[in-house]
Amino acid sequence: MNKTIIVSNRLPLQIQVEEDGEVTAKPSVGGLATGMKSVHRDSNGIWIGWSGVKDEDLTPEIEKKVNKAVESEQCVAVKLNEHDLDNYYYGFSNRTLWPLFHYFLEYTEFDKGYWESYVEVNKKFVEVVIAQAEEGDTIWVHDYQLLLLPALVKEKIPNISIGFFLHIPFPSYEIFRTFPARKEILEGMLGADLLGFHTYDYERHFLSSVKRILSLEVNFNEITYGNRIIKVDSFPMGIDYHKFKDAALHHHKQTEIEKSEIQKRLDQHLQYDKDVKMILSIDRMDYTKGIPNRIRAFEYFLKKYPQFQEKIRLIMLAVPSRSEVPQYQLLKKETDELVGRVNGEFSTVSWTPIWYFYRTMPFENLIDLYTSSDVALITPVRDGMNLVAKEYIATRTNQDGVLVLSEMTGASKELDDALLINPFNFGEIADTIKQAIEMPKAEQKRRMKGLQKRVARYSVEKWAEEFMHSLNNVEQNLADVIDA
Ligand code: ADP
Ligand code: G6P
Repeated sequence: MNKTIIVSNRLPLQIQVEEDGEVTAKPSVGGLATGMKSVHRDSNGIWIGWSGVKDEDLTPEIEKKVNKAVESEQCVAVKLNEHDLDNYYYGFSNRTLWPLFHYFLEYTEFDKGYWESYVEVNKKFVEVVIAQAEEGDTIWVHDYQLLLLPALVKEKIPNISIGFFLHIPFPSYEIFRTFPARKEILEGMLGADLLGFHTYDYERHFLSSVKRILSLEVNFNEITYGNRIIKVDSFPMGIDYHKFKDAALHHHKQTEIEKSEIQKRLDQHLQYDKDVKMILSIDRMDYTKGIPNRIRAFEYFLKKYPQFQEKIRLIMLAVPSRSEVPQYQLLKKETDELVGRVNGEFSTVSWTPIWYFYRTMPFENLIDLYTSSDVALITPVRDGMNLVAKEYIATRTNQDGVLVLSEMTGASKELDDALLINPFNFGEIADTIKQAIEMPKAEQKRRMKGLQKRVARYSVEKWAEEFMHSLNNVEQNLADVIDA
């Protein structure tokens, strides 16, 4: 039977080797992994990616255990060593492409060694893809770590159908043109038969770069490349709506012993501070997420509207991410200091304005947070999509709660009923927080209904279906042309 092979840098599970040599698996964090996981679960395909364990830590015995854990989830591991991780992952992927594509030019490092490693690791991935692919299979490559892979696969297996989806923004031509490897990157991506982006803007930016950098003919959303026609389109990624909705509906209260720290804190909030409104933010600790902006805007809100002091609390959950990259370390330091400053300035004996958690959380605790908060405050300065916003919507089964969302997220293009803000405008954020807290229930309900309708309809299943349908059409058209 034909299968779909998903390929991404990270697998949906991350393996850890414990001190006693046992291996444990944790779900990966991030939109790509959480979103694609349900697509993979419902398919008969396989998923190729890195297991989370570097080669240097693999004894034959450990490798066997890692492979067993990975295979039990229909995954296949690509082996990466420390040099690969330092140069391809922390280097070119996260010190070059990530900042550049998120408009952080000042953070972008162009380093020849990083680039060479990026090429080399993309070639490592192609070897595993070749070993797994059979005639009639479809290859679906994901994200910025593997931009060269589509062309490498096309070169080795010309007749296989290849889709590519970018989970982050594609920057405007004026940004992309600064990139020394701009030509190679575009040529790598053009190995795919269909290229997908979250929004029409990213698609347009990509097409503009293809036109101007490669001087290729672009007709509406089709690119003529040698004897191939490549299709480009936007597919806004959704979430597994029912998983989140059902989890919120059937959420069971745990016993005192089972309760995590966060649940105990939430209980405390509900018991003693039930008149204190709760504002929630959840992100990976990443400089694109606008975390310092958010704290400063919250501080400004408390100053501008002192009547809300002791009446409101910001609960901030940040998941550790890429902590070997200096900018992420600086961000962590800045966040710690800002939280300390605001809490130092405003706390009273009975009230702390910000509760800040820096850790990953089990799924149930995320649901606890989503369902207990009055407002979600999502303020990225740049974000390809932002699935957290959609997850918040899906869990609001009473149709209350208000979403305050940055207009710099891909999600803002779909979620008209959210309160949209410019994350650089503290005055606007402060006023919008006030508007959100004071919003009448009827308006909350009207907006939430609209948001839920959209997020329920364009679920991740629908997203994957539309992408695959479009990819099959490209293939079909091609076959028709060849037959004619
Ligand atoms: P990004 O992909 O940039 O990390 P998204 O908002 O699109 O941003 O996706 C983040 C994903 O990570 C969401 O699916 C969210 O549920 C998950 N997540 C965020 N924080 C945590 C956490 N503390 N523990 C577990 N999962 C988390
Ligand atoms: C974003 C990226 C993903 C990445 C995730 C987590 O969602 O689009 O490709 O997997 O962040 O980052 P990490 O570097 O830990 O894989």
